[in-house]
Amino acid sequence: MPKGPTKREPPSTTKAPRVLAVTSEKGGVGKSTLAVHLAGALAERGLRPVLVDEDERVGSSLRWAGRGGLGFPVLAPADVKPRVLSACDVLIIDTEGRPKRRELRALAGRADLILVPTGVSALERGATRELAEYLGGPGEAGRRLWVVMCRVPPVGHAAEDAREELRDAGVQVCNTLIRSYAAYPKAAELGVLARDVRDPRAAAAWHDILALSRELV
Ligand SMILES: Nc1ncnc2c1ncn2[C@@H]1O[C@H](COP(=O)(O)OP(=O)(O)OP(=O)(O)O)[C@@H](O)[C@H]1O
Ligand SMILES: [Mg+2]
Repeated sequence: MPKGPTKREPPSTTKAPRVLAVTSEKGGVGKSTLAVHLAGALAERGLRPVLVDEDERVGSSLRWAGRGGLGFPVLAPADVKPRVLSACDVLIIDTEGRPKRRELRALAGRADLILVPTGVSALERGATRELAEYLGGPGEAGRRLWVVMCRVPPVGHAAEDAREELRDAGVQVCNTLIRSYAAYPKAAELGVLARDVRDPRAAAAWHDILALSRELV
């Protein structure tokens, strides 16, 4: 007996976006700056990022976008609706300043990739290493956690040494170093990306961000 037509699955229009959470226990390390710029780099590369601001205080990415214009959606958590997700390739979460460990664990559970910016000082490295052990460890969660050295002095080798030390301790550290440039605070003030400010180091800053985006997505 001939078989009737097989029932086909409807084409999927709601492929879930990749979720990248930018977080750290320490405040002021550059989470919002990184989250905004990574979203900008993905948009420049033709992907469709959505930035979710889970921090409603001054200095957050929603207020950043409100001061100028970023060219990609920046939303409060309540505004992340299915329609938004269906038009999004990568959801970037900018987290609050000093999240509690319980909240960090929950965040790690819903992210495909957890990006932890850290400074180069011994104290910051120690704290980052401890956080990486708490959140990740050797298992699957550990493979999703990446540390990135941020606000790196543009001269000297302190950040390369710090990166190697963390790697020796078993922490995954991005190759790209995000150097410290005045273009970032200028960009925050104007509500734009470092790429778009008038600054002699704007191109160098943007180069770092694009390189990091390619390592991660
Ligand atoms: N790579 C960088 N070079 C120079 N300045 C930077 C860099 N990254 C961040 N900054 C500056 O450091 C300050 C803190 O950055 P940011 O607000 O991104 O940190 P945060 O971790 O989101 O802070 P919070 O914990 O309060 O949310 C800002 O003034 C920002 O412009
Ligand atoms: Mg912030």
